[in-house]
Amino acid sequence: MKKRPVFLLALVFACLSFVRADAGVIRSEKADEWGGMAGLGKKSFRFAVISDTQPLGPGRSLSPLVERLLKEISWLGPDFVIHLGDVISGYGDSLEEARHEYAAMKEKIDRLLPWVPFFAVPGNHDQATPGALAAYRETFGSLLYYDFPYGNGRFVVLNGNFPSWMAPRGKDYGFFNLNDGMHVLPMAEWAEEAFSRGGKMLFVFLHTPPFPAYTPPPGRGTHGFLTASNRDAFVALLPKGRTKAVFSGHEHLFYVEDRGGIKFFTLGTGGGPLSGPVTGPAGVNAGIPPKFNLLKGDPEVDQGGGRPKGLFKSGALGVFGFLLVRVDGDRVAYDFVVPFTLEVAYSEGNDGVSPRARAVLENRGRFAQVFKGVTFLMPASPAGYRARATARNGDRTEVEIGPVPEILEVSPAGPGKNLVRVQATVPPAMAVDLEIEAR
Ligand SMILES: [Fe+2]
Repeated sequence: MKKRPVFLLALVFACLSFVRADAGVIRSEKADEWGGMAGLGKKSFRFAVISDTQPLGPGRSLSPLVERLLKEISWLGPDFVIHLGDVISGYGDSLEEARHEYAAMKEKIDRLLPWVPFFAVPGNHDQATPGALAAYRETFGSLLYYDFPYGNGRFVVLNGNFPSWMAPRGKDYGFFNLNDGMHVLPMAEWAEEAFSRGGKMLFVFLHTPPFPAYTPPPGRGTHGFLTASNRDAFVALLPKGRTKAVFSGHEHLFYVEDRGGIKFFTLGTGGGPLSGPVTGPAGVNAGIPPKFNLLKGDPEVDQGGGRPKGLFKSGALGVFGFLLVRVDGDRVAYDFVVPFTLEVAYSEGNDGVSPRARAVLENRGRFAQVFKGVTFLMPASPAGYRARATARNGDRTEVEIGPVPEILEVSPAGPGKNLVRVQATVPPAMAVDLEIEAR
């Protein structure tokens, strides 16, 4: 027990000293430069998408789910993360409250994702007032629409909900041709150019979904696309074939619709309140095939997801989580991860002193996951480190789990200590012991 404060201090020091210049929040005006360097030549990579992490009102705390989801993302160690907007409560926030709420999120990003670059998309809550937007820009950058290359992809971030207070007379928010004051071209014209800037595959990010699952869309309020023609103009700009997916949040439910080979995702929430029915709209999960494209929540089962007057498209689901996207050459795979699917628990060492350390990596998901963000605090070892992964059979015999774990990164973490980042693959529904040893 006596060792604990020293161990905690060492861990805090290790974490604080490890935030890299090319990781943590990448400001929007730096995105292009970052992507050109970091993604150079990559044809295989992963990125995570999270959305709607806002607290339940001005000055309230972030949900513990935010910490949990960022932690699980950090264990996976994707190449980067994109937050689809609504980081703060916004409405009714003073400038100081907005700054405080962004600072709370930034602290989590710096602490939990010190080697993972993090980008943001402006949501309606982030632009609810001039003060909220000022605080957003201080945290995530001044450009409200921007793009960057990464590997064989191009990533385009749009502001799907310019607030009415920013609109010139006679215009309103939505995918209109507004300018954020930082570009030569207004957004719609700029987007057309950005889409044509190259990249074998194109991914688009905007807070408000072009094809919402909650009806009646599109409409007034904050659903973004004020009219169907406005939405159709945006969709028509998306290059056919190259555009793989459009990612949105805002609705606090998970939903996906394929239109002309483009997947339009609405992500579940990253900690904001649930919206859609948690059992799926009426009948779907009872094995009754939907007769209509639009279904009411079943009031006896889930009270219509809390919105008894609304209709939800078949398949819309109120759920917390984040989306993990894998690009492998021409192939793209999407995996929605709910909280507590992944776990990492240290069972030995990890104190910067013991030459051996062990962590138990758990995967409660349906697919194998590559953990690239598991770190060990180890004594410095000029000869390096070796790692192995094992699992136990039903008869408790040990079996090696391949591929053999790799040492990805060794960084100094105080006198005589290193932080060692290891990559290991964990098959579905399995707990794996990951051991590391100083050579
Ligand atoms: Fe929103």
